[in-house]
Amino acid sequence: MPYINIENYTKKINKLPVLDNINLKLSEGRIYALIGSNGSGKTMLIRAVSGLITPDSGKAFVNGLEIGNGVYPESLGLLIENITMFEYLSAFENLKMLNSISVNRISDFEIKEWLETFELNSNDKRTIKKYSLGMRQKVSIIQAFMNKPDLIILDEPTNSLDEHSIQILFDTIKKINEKYGTTFIIASHDNNCIENISDEIIEMRCGKIVC
Ligand SMILES: Nc1ncnc2c1ncn2[C@@H]1O[C@H](COP(=O)(O)OP(=O)(O)O)[C@@H](O)[C@H]1O
Ligand SMILES: [Mg+2]
Repeated sequence: MPYINIENYTKKINKLPVLDNINLKLSEGRIYALIGSNGSGKTMLIRAVSGLITPDSGKAFVNGLEIGNGVYPESLGLLIENITMFEYLSAFENLKMLNSISVNRISDFEIKEWLETFELNSNDKRTIKKYSLGMRQKVSIIQAFMNKPDLIILDEPTNSLDEHSIQILFDTIKKINEKYGTTFIIASHDNNCIENISDEIIEMRCGKIVC
Protein backbone atom coordinates (compact mmCIF):
# COMPACT_ATOMS: atom_id res chain seq x y z
CA MET A 1 0.00 0.00 0.00
CA PRO A 2 1.50 3.42 -0.89
CA TYR A 3 2.11 5.75 2.07
CA ILE A 4 0.42 8.62 0.25
CA ASN A 5 -2.22 7.82 -2.33
CA ILE A 6 -4.02 10.48 -4.33
CA GLU A 7 -6.74 9.20 -6.63
CA ASN A 8 -8.51 11.23 -9.33
CA TYR A 9 -8.27 14.30 -7.09
CA THR A 10 -9.90 17.44 -8.50
CA LYS A 11 -10.28 20.78 -6.73
CA LYS A 12 -11.92 23.74 -8.43
CA ILE A 13 -11.85 27.37 -7.38
CA ASN A 14 -14.41 29.58 -9.10
CA LYS A 15 -15.12 26.69 -11.51
CA LEU A 16 -11.48 26.49 -12.61
CA PRO A 17 -9.56 23.32 -11.68
CA VAL A 18 -6.51 24.20 -9.59
CA LEU A 19 -5.90 20.46 -9.12
CA ASP A 20 -6.98 18.59 -12.22
CA ASN A 21 -7.54 14.85 -11.77
CA ILE A 22 -4.32 14.19 -9.85
CA ASN A 23 -3.14 10.60 -9.44
CA LEU A 24 -0.07 10.05 -7.29
CA LYS A 25 1.38 7.26 -5.19
CA LEU A 26 4.27 8.04 -2.83
CA SER A 27 6.33 5.60 -0.76
CA GLU A 28 7.27 5.89 2.87
CA GLY A 29 10.75 7.11 3.76
CA ARG A 30 11.57 8.87 0.52
CA ILE A 31 12.35 12.50 -0.27
CA TYR A 32 10.14 13.93 -3.01
CA ALA A 33 10.75 17.24 -4.74
CA LEU A 34 7.64 19.00 -6.02
CA ILE A 35 8.57 21.40 -8.78
CA GLY A 36 6.75 23.63 -11.26
CA SER A 37 6.43 27.31 -12.04
CA ASN A 38 4.43 29.83 -9.98
CA GLY A 39 0.74 28.99 -10.04
CA SER A 40 1.24 25.40 -11.25
CA GLY A 41 -0.55 23.99 -8.20
CA LYS A 42 2.24 22.96 -5.80
CA THR A 43 0.77 24.69 -2.76
CA MET A 44 -2.71 23.37 -3.61
CA LEU A 45 -1.38 19.81 -3.77
CA ILE A 46 0.29 20.34 -0.39
CA ARG A 47 -3.01 21.64 1.01
CA ALA A 48 -4.73 18.53 -0.36
CA VAL A 49 -2.26 16.14 1.31
CA SER A 50 -2.38 18.14 4.58
CA GLY A 51 -6.18 18.22 4.75
CA LEU A 52 -6.41 22.00 4.44
CA ILE A 53 -8.74 21.60 1.45
CA THR A 54 -11.38 19.00 0.57
CA PRO A 55 -11.70 17.72 -3.01
CA ASP A 56 -14.65 18.31 -5.32
CA SER A 57 -14.05 14.76 -6.52
CA GLY A 58 -11.46 12.07 -5.86
CA LYS A 59 -9.63 11.09 -2.69
CA ALA A 60 -6.38 11.61 -0.80
CA PHE A 61 -5.04 9.06 1.69
CA VAL A 62 -2.07 9.32 4.05
CA ASN A 63 -1.07 6.09 5.74
CA GLY A 64 -4.48 4.61 4.92
CA LEU A 65 -6.45 7.53 6.39
CA GLU A 66 -8.68 9.51 4.04
CA ILE A 67 -7.74 13.20 4.30
CA GLY A 68 -10.18 16.14 3.95
CA ASN A 69 -13.44 17.21 5.58
CA GLY A 70 -11.63 18.01 8.83
CA VAL A 71 -9.44 14.90 8.79
CA TYR A 72 -5.70 15.58 8.85
CA PRO A 73 -2.65 13.29 8.63
CA GLU A 74 -1.91 11.80 12.05
CA SER A 75 1.75 12.76 12.18
CA LEU A 76 2.60 15.76 10.02
CA GLY A 77 5.13 18.59 10.19
CA LEU A 78 4.10 21.36 7.85
CA LEU A 79 5.75 24.52 6.58
CA ILE A 80 3.36 26.51 4.46
CA GLU A 81 3.48 30.12 3.33
CA ASN A 82 2.83 32.91 5.88
CA ILE A 83 2.86 30.89 9.06
CA THR A 84 1.32 32.91 11.89
CA MET A 85 3.47 33.33 14.95
CA PHE A 86 3.12 34.99 18.33
CA GLU A 87 4.72 38.32 17.41
CA TYR A 88 5.41 39.38 20.99
CA LEU A 89 7.12 36.17 22.05
CA SER A 90 10.71 35.15 21.37
CA ALA A 91 11.64 32.36 18.93
CA PHE A 92 12.18 29.97 21.85
CA GLU A 93 8.84 30.91 23.43
CA ASN A 94 7.04 30.44 20.11
CA LEU A 95 8.49 26.96 19.67
CA LYS A 96 7.84 26.10 23.33
CA MET A 97 4.18 27.06 22.87
CA LEU A 98 3.80 24.84 19.78
CA ASN A 99 5.71 22.03 21.47
CA SER A 100 3.29 22.14 24.41
CA ILE A 101 0.36 21.13 22.16
CA SER A 102 2.25 18.36 20.36
CA VAL A 103 1.68 14.71 21.21
CA ASN A 104 5.40 14.09 20.79
CA ARG A 105 6.88 16.71 23.11
CA ILE A 106 10.58 17.48 23.32
CA SER A 107 12.59 19.14 26.11
CA ASP A 108 13.47 22.84 26.33
CA PHE A 109 17.07 21.76 25.80
CA GLU A 110 16.13 20.10 22.50
CA ILE A 111 14.22 23.22 21.36
CA LYS A 112 17.37 25.25 22.03
CA GLU A 113 19.46 22.69 20.13
CA TRP A 114 17.15 23.14 17.12
CA LEU A 115 17.63 26.92 17.24
CA GLU A 116 21.39 26.50 17.41
CA THR A 117 21.34 24.00 14.51
CA PHE A 118 19.94 26.80 12.36
CA GLU A 119 22.43 29.25 13.89
CA LEU A 120 19.83 31.24 15.81
CA ASN A 121 20.81 32.34 19.30
CA SER A 122 18.73 30.17 21.63
CA ASN A 123 18.96 32.82 24.39
CA ASP A 124 17.80 35.67 22.14
CA LYS A 125 15.15 37.56 24.13
CA ARG A 126 14.01 39.66 21.16
CA THR A 127 10.46 39.08 20.00
CA ILE A 128 9.76 37.39 16.65
CA LYS A 129 8.42 40.76 15.46
CA LYS A 130 12.04 41.96 15.36
CA TYR A 131 13.29 38.97 13.34
CA SER A 132 14.32 39.21 9.68
CA LEU A 133 12.42 37.20 7.04
CA GLY A 134 15.18 34.60 6.87
CA MET A 135 15.24 34.24 10.68
CA ARG A 136 11.45 33.78 10.75
CA GLN A 137 11.73 31.19 8.00
CA LYS A 138 14.18 29.22 10.14
CA VAL A 139 11.77 29.24 13.12
CA SER A 140 8.96 28.10 10.78
CA ILE A 141 11.15 25.25 9.51
CA ILE A 142 12.06 24.20 13.06
CA GLN A 143 8.40 23.97 14.10
CA ALA A 144 7.84 21.52 11.20
CA PHE A 145 10.85 19.37 12.21
CA MET A 146 11.09 19.39 15.99
CA ASN A 147 8.43 16.90 17.12
CA LYS A 148 9.72 14.15 14.80
CA PRO A 149 6.60 13.66 12.64
CA ASP A 150 6.43 10.74 10.19
CA LEU A 151 5.73 13.09 7.27
CA ILE A 152 7.28 16.51 6.72
CA ILE A 153 5.95 18.80 4.00
CA LEU A 154 7.85 21.97 3.21
CA ASP A 155 6.43 24.59 0.84
CA GLU A 156 9.23 26.74 -0.60
CA PRO A 157 11.50 26.23 2.43
CA THR A 158 14.47 27.99 0.83
CA ASN A 159 12.59 31.30 0.56
CA SER A 160 14.55 34.11 2.26
CA LEU A 161 17.39 31.78 3.26
CA ASP A 162 21.01 32.52 2.35
CA GLU A 163 23.22 29.88 0.65
CA HIS A 164 24.80 28.74 3.91
CA SER A 165 21.41 28.33 5.62
CA ILE A 166 20.07 26.38 2.62
CA GLN A 167 23.00 23.98 3.06
CA ILE A 168 22.12 23.56 6.77
CA LEU A 169 18.49 22.91 5.78
CA PHE A 170 19.46 20.25 3.21
CA ASP A 171 21.94 18.56 5.58
CA THR A 172 19.25 18.47 8.28
CA ILE A 173 16.65 16.99 5.90
CA LYS A 174 19.12 14.23 4.90
CA LYS A 175 19.98 13.53 8.53
CA ILE A 176 16.32 13.28 9.65
CA ASN A 177 15.46 11.10 6.64
CA GLU A 178 18.32 8.69 7.34
CA LYS A 179 17.80 8.57 11.12
CA TYR A 180 14.01 8.27 11.35
CA GLY A 181 12.91 7.23 7.83
CA THR A 182 10.80 10.39 7.63
CA THR A 183 8.99 10.97 4.34
CA PHE A 184 9.56 14.44 2.84
CA ILE A 185 7.68 16.45 0.22
CA ILE A 186 9.56 19.62 -0.63
CA ALA A 187 8.03 22.14 -3.02
CA SER A 188 10.10 24.70 -4.86
CA HIS A 189 9.78 26.83 -7.98
CA ASP A 190 13.58 26.59 -8.24
CA ASN A 191 14.43 23.16 -9.73
CA ASN A 192 18.19 23.37 -9.26
CA CYS A 193 17.68 24.04 -5.62
CA ILE A 194 16.07 20.79 -4.50
CA GLU A 195 16.91 18.35 -7.29
CA ASN A 196 20.09 17.12 -5.65
CA ILE A 197 18.61 16.19 -2.29
CA SER A 198 15.50 14.41 -3.58
CA ASP A 199 15.02 10.74 -4.46
CA GLU A 200 12.25 11.52 -6.92
CA ILE A 201 10.93 14.60 -8.69
CA ILE A 202 7.26 15.38 -9.28
CA GLU A 203 6.65 18.12 -11.81
CA MET A 204 3.39 20.06 -11.99
CA ARG A 205 1.95 22.26 -14.71
CA CYS A 206 -1.49 23.92 -14.72
CA GLY A 207 -2.85 21.79 -11.86
CA LYS A 208 -1.65 18.54 -13.44
CA ILE A 209 1.28 16.25 -12.79
CA VAL A 210 3.34 16.19 -15.96
CA CYS A 211 6.08 13.77 -14.90
N1 LIG B 1 -7.17 31.45 -2.50
C1 LIG B 1 -7.22 31.29 -3.83
N2 LIG B 1 -8.27 31.73 -4.55
C2 LIG B 1 -8.32 31.58 -5.88
N3 LIG B 1 -7.36 30.98 -6.61
C3 LIG B 1 -6.29 30.53 -5.96
C4 LIG B 1 -6.14 30.65 -4.54
N4 LIG B 1 -4.97 30.10 -4.18
C5 LIG B 1 -4.40 29.66 -5.31
N5 LIG B 1 -5.19 29.89 -6.38
C6 LIG B 1 -4.91 29.52 -7.79
O1 LIG B 1 -4.58 28.15 -7.83
C7 LIG B 1 -3.55 27.92 -8.79
C8 LIG B 1 -2.43 27.15 -8.14
O2 LIG B 1 -1.85 27.95 -7.13
P1 LIG B 1 -0.71 27.42 -6.16
O3 LIG B 1 -0.99 26.02 -5.80
O4 LIG B 1 -0.59 28.40 -5.06
O5 LIG B 1 0.57 27.49 -7.12
P2 LIG B 1 2.12 27.27 -6.78
O6 LIG B 1 2.23 26.92 -5.34
O7 LIG B 1 2.58 26.17 -7.70
O8 LIG B 1 2.80 28.55 -7.11
C9 LIG B 1 -3.16 29.29 -9.34
O9 LIG B 1 -3.80 29.46 -10.57
C10 LIG B 1 -3.69 30.25 -8.32
O10 LIG B 1 -4.06 31.46 -8.91
MG1 LIG C 1 3.20 27.81 -3.81
